[in-house]
Order: sequence, then C-alpha cells, then structure tokens
Amino acid sequence: MCGIVGYLGNRDAADVIIKGLKRLEYRGYDSAGVAILNGKLAIRKAKGKVKRLEEILEDKPVEGGIGIGHTRWATHGEPNDVNAHPHQSQNKRIVLVHNGIIENYSSLKKELIKKGYSFQSQTDTEVLAHLIEAIQKDLDCSFEEAVQYALKQVEGTYGLAILNQDEPDKIIVARKGSPLLLGIGEDEYFIASDASPVIEYTNKVVYLDDNEMAIIKRTGYEVKSIANVPQNKKIHELEMSIEQIEKSGYPHFMLKEIFEQPQSLSDCIRGRINPEDQSITLGGLTDVWPKLEKANRIIIAACGTSWHSGLVGEYLIEHLAKVHVEVEYASELRYKEPVLIDEKDVLIAISQSGETADTLAALREAKSKGATVIGICNVVGSTIARETHAGVYTHAGPEIGVASTKAFTAQVVVLTMIALELAKRKGTISDEYYSEIISDLLKLPQKVTTALKEFDKVKEISALFTYAPNFLYLGRSFNFPVALEGALKLKEISYIHAEGYPAAEMKHGPIALIDEHMPVVVLTTLSHTNEKMISNVQEVKARKGRIIAVTMPNNREVEPLADFTLEVPSITDVLSPLVTVIPLQLMSYQIAVNRGCNVDQPRNLAKSVTVE
Ligand code: M6R
Repeated sequence: MCGIVGYLGNRDAADVIIKGLKRLEYRGYDSAGVAILNGKLAIRKAKGKVKRLEEILEDKPVEGGIGIGHTRWATHGEPNDVNAHPHQSQNKRIVLVHNGIIENYSSLKKELIKKGYSFQSQTDTEVLAHLIEAIQKDLDCSFEEAVQYALKQVEGTYGLAILNQDEPDKIIVARKGSPLLLGIGEDEYFIASDASPVIEYTNKVVYLDDNEMAIIKRTGYEVKSIANVPQNKKIHELEMSIEQIEKSGYPHFMLKEIFEQPQSLSDCIRGRINPEDQSITLGGLTDVWPKLEKANRIIIAACGTSWHSGLVGEYLIEHLAKVHVEVEYASELRYKEPVLIDEKDVLIAISQSGETADTLAALREAKSKGATVIGICNVVGSTIARETHAGVYTHAGPEIGVASTKAFTAQVVVLTMIALELAKRKGTISDEYYSEIISDLLKLPQKVTTALKEFDKVKEISALFTYAPNFLYLGRSFNFPVALEGALKLKEISYIHAEGYPAAEMKHGPIALIDEHMPVVVLTTLSHTNEKMISNVQEVKARKGRIIAVTMPNNREVEPLADFTLEVPSITDVLSPLVTVIPLQLMSYQIAVNRGCNVDQPRNLAKSVTVE
C-alpha cells in the first residue's frame, strides 16, 4: 500500500527519495510524488510508476536537502495526477504525504469549505493540509501545535510527513495505524514506511508507535505523543542487509524468493531445533507455554497466504497436540456473534509484514478480551510483533514480491515447531513420531532444494497452460490448504481464475466445470489419503480434465492416470505442504511470466495491506 520516504540532510533529497520510493514499489501503488523544501516548496507528482516521476524530475529538476515523497495506493479518488500526494494547504505553505484513511474527512471537509477552503483533489488527505493551516491561523499557534490539534480531530489512521515553508529546516512526522520509522544517520535523517529505503544509509532506526509524532530538525530529533508528552525511544539496530533487498541476478524478486527457501528455512530452524537431542527452543514463547498447554482452544487469525499457513497449522496442532484450533479470516473475527474470546484462549496472529490492518484489529480485539496473543511475523519490529504478548519471528528475510512464497513456508515451519513442542509438553506424541518429524524438518532445506530442481519441467507444463482460463487445485488433509495457496498464487499474479478445493468437495459442485479445457492440479503425496485422491483423479479423468499431479517417489500410483507429473521428495505426511507448495509457486510464477504480467507488482495488489 502507500509508501512514505522523507529526507533531511546534506544529500540531494530528491535522489534519496526517488531511490527510496523505488525500494517501496513492492508495496503496490498507482501514483507517486515528491515535495522538496529549499526556501520554497516545489512539488512534482504524477499518476503511474516512480519511473514516470523520475522523468518529470529530469525535465523539471528540484534541488534541496529536505523533502518528502509518496507512492499512493488509491482509496479515495481515482489514481490520477491531482489525487497523487503530496497535497498542499490553501496558502500552499504546508505540504504533506499521508498513508491511511481519514475516516471523518467528509465532515471536516464541510467545515473547511464553510470557512472558505477549496479542494483540488478527491482525497481524504487534502483535508489534513487545509486543517493544519486553518488551525494555525485560527489559534495563532505553532506549526507543531497545529499538527497536534489537527490530529486530535482526525478519526482514522495515518502515517504522515509534513513540511512547512515557514519552517524550512523541519519535518514533522506522525503515526497512528500506518507504520513509520526514522533512520538516524550522521547529521542526516530518513523517514520511511519500512526499513528498505533506509538500510543503505544507516542501520539505526526508531520505530514510531501509534499516537506519536517526531519533530526532525538539522540539530536533532524529538519524539513526543500527539498529546505533547515527550517519549524516550529506543534506537534499534537493523540486521537487514542491502543484498537482501536486491534481485541478485534473478529477473524477479518472486523467483529469487522462491529459490531462497532452502536458506530461509534453515534460518528459520537454526538455533531452534537442537540436532543433538532434537529439542525445540522458541525463546519468544518461554513465558506463554503454560497458557498454550492449558488453552481451551487456539484461534489463528490471518489473511491471504498467512491464513493458508494458519490452516496448515490447524491440521498440525490438532493432529499432534490434540488441541482444538479455529482458523479465522482476521477481517471476519470481530463480526462473529458472539466470538466469546476470553482469557483461557490463545490467539496466534500470523503476518509476513506484521502490519496487516485486519490481523492487527483481530489481535487487538482478542487482547482486549483477555486472550493471550502470540505473533508469527517476518518483519522484525513490525506493529503486530510489538503488540503481541509473545511471538516467533520467521526469519525468512525481506520478502519483496507481492506474492508471498518464502514467508509461507517459514510460517508453516514455525507452526510445526509450536505444534511439536506443545505435543511433547502435553504428552500427546510418541518419541518415535516426534523424532521422525524432527529428522525430516532438519532435512527440509535439502528437500526443498530437490523440489526446486523441477523448475525446467514446470516451465514445459506452464507453456502448455499459459492461456488456460481456469485452474482447479485439489488436495486433502495437510495438502488442502496448499491447494488453496496454489490457486491464490496463480490468480494474484497471472490473473487466471483459479480455485482450490478439498478434493472430495469437487463432486459437490466444481466437477460441473471439468472438461478437456480444465487443468486440474492434484496433490497426491499423502500416504493416508492416497486411495481417495486416486478416486478423485479418476473422476477428473472420466470428464477429460487435464491432470497435473504433484507426486512423491514413494507414491507414484497416480502417474499412469496423470497427464503431467511434478515430483517432490518424499517427506513425512505432516511436512508435505512444505514441499508440495514449491512446484505450485514455480508454476504460477512461470505462467505469469509467459503472460507478460508484472510478477512482483501485480495489478491492484499491495504487499502490506494497511487498510481494513
Ligand atoms: O503481511 P501479511 O502476511 O499479513 O499479508 C497477508 C496477505 O495480504 C498476503 O498473504 C497476500 O494474500 C499475498 N499477496 C499472498 O501472496
């Protein structure tokens, strides 16, 4: 979603901002803009990619060491040049960029119109620029106070960066609901929605919390609450490297991230599973194991791909630890009447970005009802990671491609470790079974490397189905969520309609779609569902569907029936999703490339969905 970059220092602010906005492109956006303050404010903005903004800046350059920039993902008003940020106040002396939604913008706008303010754009954001100007005039107060008064009137969410031509050495930033961090360099400061624009300049960052603002000047910075109480903020050291956020020779981030999985999975496991005694240590959960052991039920809340990993988690925890698990779409959790969450419940919020607004809202809801909330996040220091009582980082490294790949497998590994440790503590697993799963978990990076070797075969199959209008994905048990994930991956980046189903459900409706034009991907790797999957494959075949089967060397019964097979290495059933998902990720990638789609930034999508 929208991205903010700001700079104050001795470099060329426009350069830093453009580079930073490019780093944030993965979040998804439809217009971009920049404002530079060099005595006077200069604004350049346009619909389209940052590249377009860069061309405009080449034609009409702006110079100066202070500026703010933005990539906008349209909510209020279509993507066009006028609605692009930055937005100016009426007297053109205040300019700002904004992430989030001003929910009461309509009533604020009416008041401002009555006072004589006129609006250029259809955005909610423009209201804020006028409001700050109006307050400063009406109350004859400082810029900083005007921002505070304005934000007290605002309902909704914001990540904000504001410049004022009358205070040429200052940037004010504020946060409520939309992430914002401050990078601290030598005599220079960076502002960004996440760490990727900052990391090449400094690894020192301050994360703003909700209802906080920072006043950044050449002489230093100060963080206070919107209510004007000074805040003592910790400076965090980022561990991320610049290489991690670059493509390293791959044509797309998504492909790089798919191929990084052997590494991301060993990073996720390292230091947590002791190969000597097979024990599991999840430091972030130390204090909450007693809660987990006593929990009546575990609720998992997440969205999209993270929701699919939550579904795998449900199968894992119920199977291994014998605890009832409910997996909720985070966005729907609060509408369940009555949800009846209480202090005996544990909620696990899963989120790659750690910023997904729906997931955050679900965890806040559960927390307010007394539940223990645990986070499984990838982005260190993200809001969800900070608001949960306990948590486990997935350590998958930065995921830039909008389609989530390595985050999914790392989330499933974390859920597997939780399920195993819980099962051990509760005595619901035999030593032999525990040991079998741990041994395969330790071999996982190697097994994923083997699965990735099918890429050439995936390319051949993808070439045949590039223009298929529909796809069906079928799986049972642990592989049912993988069927959903395969379908989501394909539709989000190739725009082909795809559906995932528990295989047996096919005959309750989707079977009507099957004819010789329908590719059906079947996940036939599980020993305990094998016979039933074979029957489903026969049903597809009888209707001339084209079968692409994901198989294992020790489970090849489906091969004579399938039109195409993709082999993944043998692995114990509970870990099957971690290898069966690999050819599905590769196939959706390849089909999207064949169709000429923008793989890393699919249309209409955002990496970090910070609106509800
Ligand atoms: O950052 P999160 O894991 O909370 O994001 C949740 C979804 O928005 C995300 O998984 C989305 O579905 C991806 N585009 C899937 O590839």
